Amino acid sequence: MDKIHALPFLNVIEWLLIYIPILYHTVYGVWIVATGQPNIAQYPYGKNWFYFFQRVSAIIIVAFMIFHILGMKGVFGTNLEFVPEKYALESVRWHFQRHWSVLYLIYPIGVLASCYHLANGIWTAAITWGLTVSEHAQRRWGYVCFGLFLLTLACGILALVGVMRINEVTSPAWLRG
Ligand code: HEM
Ligand code: HEM
Repeated sequence: MDKIHALPFLNVIEWLLIYIPILYHTVYGVWIVATGQPNIAQYPYGKNWFYFFQRVSAIIIVAFMIFHILGMKGVFGTNLEFVPEKYALESVRWHFQRHWSVLYLIYPIGVLASCYHLANGIWTAAITWGLTVSEHAQRRWGYVCFGLFLLTLACGILALVGVMRINEVTSPAWLRG
């Protein structure tokens, strides 16, 4: 994070590569979720459930990102704020230490929803873009996407384990000023 904050034009990079794409996808995605009509009761096929969970995970990600990004930006108070450079590690630990549910419930669910949504999204995107036409191709691509799901999930869980291994912060220096 320190290295990221040392980048020149960080604001421009963040907006171009992170915020604008996510905002575009979020607005479009929420519209799709809001206008879609789930029909898993009539057609209880496996892949229909996958698509249903694509929408469920989307809603979870919206809520998670509001908590995660605005929290780290300090919008909900200094107790959740990420303070880069001098207090990067401590403030991340402090953020996760606020309540047991942050580390053991909110983040695991946010990570799981994100890993599922990305992997399943890439699987369905290959169909709509005409890349995987045959059933065979879709099955093979499914294995790749499942691998991506496991890989990103492992990275997310390792990040959370990493957070646990930072020593507890009892009196945050940045709160004292
Ligand atoms: C494994 C748990 C996670 C940890 C430890 C973590 C940590 C962080 C930290 C420390 C920041 C602040 C960066 C900064 O201000 O420079 C941040 C920002 C961010 N995180 Fe996470 N994060 C996690 C999971 C996620 C997930 C699952 C998503 C996707 C849904 C996500 C999306 C973002 C976004 C979009 C930002 C804002 C980027 C920016 O301000 O440049 N994070 N995260
Ligand atoms: C912020 C909240 C989000 C919402 C509301 C949302 C919503 C959706 C919805 C409804 C779909 C299904 C579109 C369809 O097949 O008709 C979708 C697809 C997808 N989502 Fe998200 N999403 C969100 C965040 C993310 C994030 C953080 C990522 C990962 C970077 C992501 C990656 C994808 C991908 C790769 C697809 C497949 C795109 C395609 O079929 O062309 N989404 N999203």
